[in-house]
Amino acid sequence: MVELTVDGRTIQATEGELLVHVLARNGVFVPTLCHDAKLDPYGGCRVCVVEVEGAPRPVPACATRAAQGMAISTNGRAEKLRRTLTEMLLTEHLNANPGGRPNELVGLAEELGAEAPFILPDAKREPYEDRNRLMGYDPDACILCNRCVRYTQEVMQCSALSLEGRGPEARIVPTWDRSWLDTECELCGGCLSVCPTGAIYEKFEEGFPANREVQLDKVKTTCTFCGVGCQIDLNVDRETNRIVKVTSDPSYLPNEGDLCVKGRFAFNFVHHPDRLTEPLVRGEDGELHETSWEHALAVAAKGLEEVRDRHGPQSIGFLASARLTMEENFLIQKLARAVIGTNSVHSCEAT
Ligand code: SF4
Ligand code: SF4
Ligand code: SF4
Ligand code: FES
Repeated sequence: MVELTVDGRTIQATEGELLVHVLARNGVFVPTLCHDAKLDPYGGCRVCVVEVEGAPRPVPACATRAAQGMAISTNGRAEKLRRTLTEMLLTEHLNANPGGRPNELVGLAEELGAEAPFILPDAKREPYEDRNRLMGYDPDACILCNRCVRYTQEVMQCSALSLEGRGPEARIVPTWDRSWLDTECELCGGCLSVCPTGAIYEKFEEGFPANREVQLDKVKTTCTFCGVGCQIDLNVDRETNRIVKVTSDPSYLPNEGDLCVKGRFAFNFVHHPDRLTEPLVRGEDGELHETSWEHALAVAAKGLEEVRDRHGPQSIGFLASARLTMEENFLIQKLARAVIGTNSVHSCEAT
């Protein structure tokens, strides 16, 4: 442990811990934009600058590590610098909400009372169109913080995105200037999820009001597509009572907010008209009829009992699924072994 002072207050920290985390733990707010705890320190946007006694210039708290005896000041000159940097970012940030995702730069500007003093004459950047149907990118909302590119390299290890061009021509593009679909991209949406301004956004959210995501109800659940069991938030629009997008949070285990293409984008089946929403039981007429869960379960139990009594427990086998949760799979083997009396339990995805 080391001892340091923050705005005159003595605090303790682990040696080498990033200042941004030390400050947050001690209730000192320093804004960040390019920082992501999942990614290596970067120090690109500078909105997290603080002053450290003896340092020739303000340092980024997200890329500076705690050391014994440091004297840190988070207000005064550093505060003014943060405001100026925010204003500078706003001068070339023409589209605040291309797709209704939260925009941390706009939130920060509101918090600091910062406004763009003018718009740079060359602020408008060449638009980007991609033929994939899930993710869009608007260069006019992008602050070039490189979080998306770093995510692709450090988390997904897919190298699908690059920072291209210089100055007013700089943009994020899929590598080799191709479509996302022609790169190593698996459309996991991870780069979208770490983008602080919503410059990468869900295409199906285009045209929705600013910050729509924060107005949606988040219902935490487990992704049902495979046995990894990623934790997801179904974002529900309460007006229509429909799931409109899926997000995840870095605090969730086991996936730490990362998802694959199925977990993030394949949610429309929930509202598909062909989907069975009530249990069906075949009647005397040979047709399937809607019924209650109690009746359907009673019919299934009776059928299983009759087969067991007539042909013995070994005549019955259970097929579980890697798409169920661990708890559900546990219950299936329990039903097979303890209730029916067979050890014939297999997973449909085991071979
Ligand atoms: S969507 Fe996923 S796979 Fe595609 S570029 Fe972004 S992080 Fe990489
Ligand atoms: S697209 Fe988003 S994450 Fe990527 S550089 Fe631009 S603002 Fe940063
Ligand atoms: S998000 Fe992908 S990896 Fe995670 S549980 Fe769903 S299907 Fe499996
Ligand atoms: S958040 Fe620290 S430099 Fe960007």
